[in-house]
Amino acid sequence: MTREGIRNIVILTGAGVSAESGLATFRGPDGLWEGHRVEDVATPEAFRRDPGLVHAFYDARRAKLQTVTPNLAHEALARLDEQWPGELLLVTQNVDDLHERAGSNRLIHMHGQVKKGWCLRCGNRFAWDGAMGTGAECPSCGGIGQVRPDIVWFGEMPYEMERIDQAVRDCDLFVSIGTSGAVYPAAGFVQTARYCGGRTLEINLEPSMGSFFFDESRMGKAAELVPRWVDELLA
Ligand code: OAD
Repeated sequence: MTREGIRNIVILTGAGVSAESGLATFRGPDGLWEGHRVEDVATPEAFRRDPGLVHAFYDARRAKLQTVTPNLAHEALARLDEQWPGELLLVTQNVDDLHERAGSNRLIHMHGQVKKGWCLRCGNRFAWDGAMGTGAECPSCGGIGQVRPDIVWFGEMPYEMERIDQAVRDCDLFVSIGTSGAVYPAAGFVQTARYCGGRTLEINLEPSMGSFFFDESRMGKAAELVPRWVDELLA
């Protein structure tokens, strides 16, 4: 791929970009996410029904993050962010912090962040390290037990959709990396980009559910293919 005619780039990442750092993808072969059904840990109903279980699940995800580091794919995307002279937006569905730890700045976490909390009493969102649990105290209002992980659960609206939608419409190149294409609205970005005249590239271990919408598909591991693609683009 050459950079000819490309100024604005939007990159969408999913769990596959963090797989080689040691974080589990969502849709494993058994259909479970770290041993849980998604509807038991990633919905507002699950949180109302059993907040202890949901907190324990995300507390474990937060603890696990301390044990992993960004891989070559995160690092290559940070290098592209630093060196690309045009517009660039990295939209991640991941709730880990590996893109920012690698150095990406032009970044949106459309599904929230496991290392942030959201107080349902005062509405504020804040950085959160360590366990949260059911008795957490809000650092803004002091309310007890009304802090939840700042994660966009199923049935909730992803963050910054207007800004993302505009960037996807305006992009010359849309690249999807390490996502199964199973969850909307992210799964629909490729169609919007295409409709608005952007070129589309997919990098994934296997064809995603929307693979046929992409102009080009590259199958393989993100930590190998992403640095190669970034080298091509910056050459
Ligand atoms: P999935 O687990 O659905 O898909 C991960 C994709 O990455 C799969 O297509 C894998 O084949 C691919 N993959 C695995 N290892 C890879 C590697 N080393 N290199 C490249 N690709 C690899 O995860 P997402 O598509 O991110 O939402 O899931 C989307 C959303 O569903 C998540 O953000 C989450 C989840 O439920 C919420 O929590 C709201």
